[in-house]
This record gives sequence, C-alpha cells and structure tokens, in this order.
Amino acid sequence: MIKISKPLDVAIIGGGMITEMQILPSLYHLQRIGLLNEISVCALNTPPLKRLVENVSLKNAFPGHSFTSYPEVDKEPEDKNFPDLNEEVIAGLKPRQIVFVALPDQMHYHTVKFALEHNQHVICVKPLTLSYDEAKEIEKLAFKKGLFVGTEYHKRFDDRVGMARIKYRNGDFGEFRAGYASLIEPWYYRDSNFQNWCTAGNSDMFSYIGCHYIDQVYMITGLLPVRVSVYGTKEKYPNGNEGFLWTNARVIWENGASLAVINGMGYPNVGPGGNSQGLWMFTRGEKDGGLIFHDDQYRGVKHSYITKGEHAGDSYYNEPSPDYFKLIERGGSGLTPIGYGYRSIEGLVQGAHRVEDNDIIKRREIIKNIDAEGILATPANSSFNELVVEAGRLSILNDGRDVEIEYGDNPNIHFY
Ligand SMILES: NC(=O)c1ccc[n+]([C@@H]2O[C@H](COP(=O)([O-])OP(=O)(O)OC[C@H]3O[C@@H](n4cnc5c(N)ncnc54)[C@H](O)[C@@H]3O)[C@@H](O)[C@H]2O)c1
Repeated sequence: MIKISKPLDVAIIGGGMITEMQILPSLYHLQRIGLLNEISVCALNTPPLKRLVENVSLKNAFPGHSFTSYPEVDKEPEDKNFPDLNEEVIAGLKPRQIVFVALPDQMHYHTVKFALEHNQHVICVKPLTLSYDEAKEIEKLAFKKGLFVGTEYHKRFDDRVGMARIKYRNGDFGEFRAGYASLIEPWYYRDSNFQNWCTAGNSDMFSYIGCHYIDQVYMITGLLPVRVSVYGTKEKYPNGNEGFLWTNARVIWENGASLAVINGMGYPNVGPGGNSQGLWMFTRGEKDGGLIFHDDQYRGVKHSYITKGEHAGDSYYNEPSPDYFKLIERGGSGLTPIGYGYRSIEGLVQGAHRVEDNDIIKRREIIKNIDAEGILATPANSSFNELVVEAGRLSILNDGRDVEIEYGDNPNIHFY
C-alpha cells in the first residue's frame, strides 16, 4: 500500500453494468480504507442511478456508504436525458481529483480529454479511445499537465498473468511461437443494449473483447502485435440490427509468432460459467517445448444450488470464478471485494495517488516511471491496443484481409 497525504474525490461518469458490478463496489471499499473521499456518479438519466441506489447487495456490503447522483434520483423524471450534465460534474470538481470514465466506447475520447482539460486525473474503462491518434493526443495532454491516465484492463491484475510474466521474462518458457485464445460472451447479451451499439458498422466482438488476450500476451512476453486479420460472421440481433457476433482473428507478433483469437456472443445461457474464456500459448526452448495454459472460465469451483434466479444467465449448476470479482466476509462490517477486478481499480487509484501531491516536474517523472513499469495500462504503454482495434476494423470490413501495424516515429496501419 502506498502512502497518501489526503483522500481524493472521484466522479464516475456512466452508471451502467460495469459501474454496478465492479467500479462502484471497488471505489466504496477504497473509500472505506481511506484512499477516496466523496464519490459521485453521473448517468444520462435517472433509471441506472436508481438501480445503483436500490441495489441490495451494495447496501449490505457497504453500510453507511453512498454516492451523490447526477441527475438527482427521485427529483427528475425517468425519461428526461441530461447529456451535458457530466461536463458540469467534471468542471465542478476540485483540481486534480479523479474522473472515472465508464461510458460507451465512442464517448471515451471526448470525456477523457474534457477531464484532462479541467485538470483531473483519469481512469477509463477499456478501450481508452477508438483510434491511436486520439490515445496519443491524450498521452501528450496528460503529460503536459502532469496528470495520471490509466486504462482499466483488469486481466493485467489476474495473478496467473503476473506469474507467467515473471517466468517468461526470466526465460523459463523459452520463446512464444503459436497460441490460441477465446472469450465468448453469453447468448443473452443479444437482448441487451449491445443490439443498439455493437452493430456491424460500429464494432464487432473482436474489437469489444479480443483486446483482453492480446493485452495479456503483451503483458507476459513484451512482444508487440504487427499484423492482424479478422473474419466476422454476421447475425441479426432480436431488434433486427446486424452485428459481427462471431469473430475469428489471427494476430502475428513481432517475432513471427501467431495467436488465433475467437470471440463471440453465444456462450449458452444454461452454461455453468459467466462466459467461456482461456488462453493457450506454446513456446520453444533449445531442446523441448514450453506451454502456458490458463483456463479462465473453470477456475476450480463447482456449485449446485437448490434455488435459481430469474436472470437469463442463472442456472442451478454453476462454476463461479473466485478470481474476477466477489464480495466476501473478511471481518468488520459489510463485505470486502476480492479478485483482479478489485485489484485493478485499487492499482489505478493508487497510480493517481502516486502522481498527485507533487510539483509538475516530479509528477511527470512519476508518470514516466509508471509507463516504464508496464503494469498499469497507460496511453504510453498500451496504445498498441488501439492500433490492433483499428487494424481489426479495417480487416473485418474487408473480409479478413491482412492489415499491418507499423510502429516507429509515426505508428499507423495499412493493408499488408
Ligand atoms: N471487460 C471489460 O473491461 C469491460 C466490461 C464491460 C464493459 N466495459 C466497458 O465499459 C463501458 C461501459 O459499459 P457498460 O456495459 O457499463 O455500458 P452500459 O450501457 O450498461 O452503461 C453506459 C452508461 O453510460 C451512461 N451515459 C450515456 N451517455 C451519457 C452521458 N452523456 N452522460 C453521462 N452518462 C451517460 C448511461 O446512462 C449508462 O449508465 C464500455 O466502454 C465498455 O466497453 C469494459
């Protein structure tokens, strides 16, 4: 735990699924242990905020904790939208607090930039932006002002990734040669808001979720991706919109290794996991091959309940993950968050604290150190993810043509 001089206020912009599941409970705990002071949440309208206020699990886990809601729940009609209120909330913060951006992907760039212009440290859910140029602009602006920007790639805090990283970098696996990864989200996502934004012209399953395993291979090996091809299978959502709901990508790395990445929206609702995911990496040494295998869906727990909820993904037999995010008893009042989902947010809030409370020269020096450590995802050390998304989009819209990523002074993408 780092030493802090004073707790920071935090404004979460976006009150949806990820705020409810991971961000707000993590921030409540950080408030409990003294890293944070006031918490506010701003959404487009009151219904998501009402859900957060009324969430019984959150109330029981964090007695006495609450947030200021913008717009005010109970005062404003449910159907009234406040698209610009988030700017008032950000502008109203004291200097150098934290803005936590949890908005739909296409809104990240504008809001992160606005927060930096208003002198705030920023934590943003992935992807930071939709293009490399935008991520670079953010990196430069933040560095100029001595502000922390971190992207929430929570799998970086999965201990199995940390274990593989140390062993790989010590030479214990040899060199990565070929691998495959998959992350298949549940079928019921088709019925959610995804059908309005994750449509073929805007995004696809590789862009949405493929980044996690590409980021992991980089975290473990330090290798950069240099070529991407993505084939997408289109299907209709219940509302008739068409999306690339299954994707099959091939990513080539700078040492010639390859990774196949399968993504989709079709893990059975009746299945025992929250989704299906995992990574295989085959490596070579002098005389034998090496292997890294992470079963990220079945993490060794089997539960069979005698009751079942009404949600589409609820099932009697379950294989719950103790590793991502859970609230459990650890003594004291309420519940304590555990798992890499919590550790990631704790690490990012600590990142803002590490930078804060120094003069501008020292703040810039600390930002450079955090970039170089490569544990927290910053625009300087993770913008290859934006290049991969750009390359993936160009490829999928051209029937899987190979797209090359060029690094150097002016990183860019083009057909191979
Ligand atoms: N594995 C991961 O890292 C992971 C997982 C889930 C989501 N995410 C990312 O988190 C982000 C949010 O996802 P979600 O599933 O919570 O989405 P969601 O649709 O459930 O929530 C979006 C929220 O944004 C709010 N919003 C929209 N316009 C706004 C405005 N003008 N001002 C204030 N609030 C506004 C909405 O009210 C809503 O509360 C996305 O970028 C997504 O890619 C990342």
